[in-house]
Amino acid sequence: MDTALSLKNVDKFYGPIGHGVHAVRNVSMDVKKGEIVALLGSSGCGKTSTLRMIAGFEEVSAGSISIAEQEIHRRPPAKRNVAMAFEGYSLYPPLTVRENIAFALKSAKLEPSVVAAKVTEIARMLEIEDILDRYPSSISGGQQQRTSLGRALIRDAALHLLDEPMGQLEPQLRALLRGRIKHFIKERGLTAILVTHDQTEANALSDRIAVMEDGILQQFDTPEIIKDRPENLFTGTFVGEPPMNVFNASVRDQDGRVHLDFGSGLSLDYPHDAFSGSVRDSIVDRGNIVVGIRPYAVHRTKDQGVDAKVIVNQWLGDQSHIAAEFAGATLVLVEHDRADVRPGDAIKVDLNPENLHIFDPDSGDAIAHGAELVS
Ligand SMILES: Nc1ncnc2c1ncn2[C@@H]1O[C@H](COP(=O)(O)OP(=O)(O)OP(=O)(O)O)[C@@H](O)[C@H]1O
Ligand SMILES: [Mg+2]
Repeated sequence: MDTALSLKNVDKFYGPIGHGVHAVRNVSMDVKKGEIVALLGSSGCGKTSTLRMIAGFEEVSAGSISIAEQEIHRRPPAKRNVAMAFEGYSLYPPLTVRENIAFALKSAKLEPSVVAAKVTEIARMLEIEDILDRYPSSISGGQQQRTSLGRALIRDAALHLLDEPMGQLEPQLRALLRGRIKHFIKERGLTAILVTHDQTEANALSDRIAVMEDGILQQFDTPEIIKDRPENLFTGTFVGEPPMNVFNASVRDQDGRVHLDFGSGLSLDYPHDAFSGSVRDSIVDRGNIVVGIRPYAVHRTKDQGVDAKVIVNQWLGDQSHIAAEFAGATLVLVEHDRADVRPGDAIKVDLNPENLHIFDPDSGDAIAHGAELVS
């Protein structure tokens, strides 16, 4: 009952089906009423195509889309009850900012005073109150973007689709608006899908994140699960800043202990009980694995651990980022204090099994997160 949007096996080809650009591949997802979902992925992964199919500006090549349990993918855009803020803003040039924002309310036949109050409220929220009487051609890109966002948010629609709504804004304003927009959406119980490249924005604004790459929905879950239990190597390395460290390793059983060999003469022998039994059996059986560990989960130790050599140590004002040479690759560590190490220093790092993410080197699928085996 509470499903606001449902995509079932949606495909998008630009050009002939089966031959053209396969922009969206068999995407299925359900969005609940009142939920904010972030579509996160790199440029060209199919985010805008997905939104445009939902809004009706692109046809689906296969599959179906329902809004509020009604199949809508054959209806024209105006018959879908969807409000969209476009990537390219699409403002009406002959109308002022005020008229652009109010435009969608025209058909709602509201009292002019009600419209005026709504426009003022939205403009204030978006910090564009002082440009309401200007025309799109005479305002900045960031102001146009906020006008477009206001025009979408003012509408009373079943679904709000926001394509990179804050991409043009500086970080301070973005952070301020993030909070306000979330509050606005939640207070009204709106359902929104927000496209973004920015993981901080996705984490801060959304209830769930849909990670896309190559037209494929890689994982759709809460920000916490996406970070702690990435389903595959793509999600693991795409989400998280700085990115997860990943290394190829071969594994063997050494008298019941796990022996990891990273190549370049670097290996680790774990104590007997370091890995849970099921994780140990699973990785030993495979022989080759990819080991991932997040930069803030790598800890320097005094004696045990593996050897690494500092390449750079940067203090970012509130944390240290240390890059170290490790098994012919680079290992990044994040520490919260000013780290007292210099380029060339030998360090030892602890790769605690609790913090390891283990992936299949061929498929990229996750095998285990810490002690938890992925079923
Ligand atoms: N009208 C079109 N005709 C042909 N190919 C297109 C068209 N629109 C998009 N594409 C292609 O489809 C793929 C997905 O594009 P889409 O615009 O959905 O990506 P996106 O994830 O929104 O990227 P960005 O973050 O750069 O906006 C890309 O390879 C793109 O070149
Ligand atoms: Mg796009």
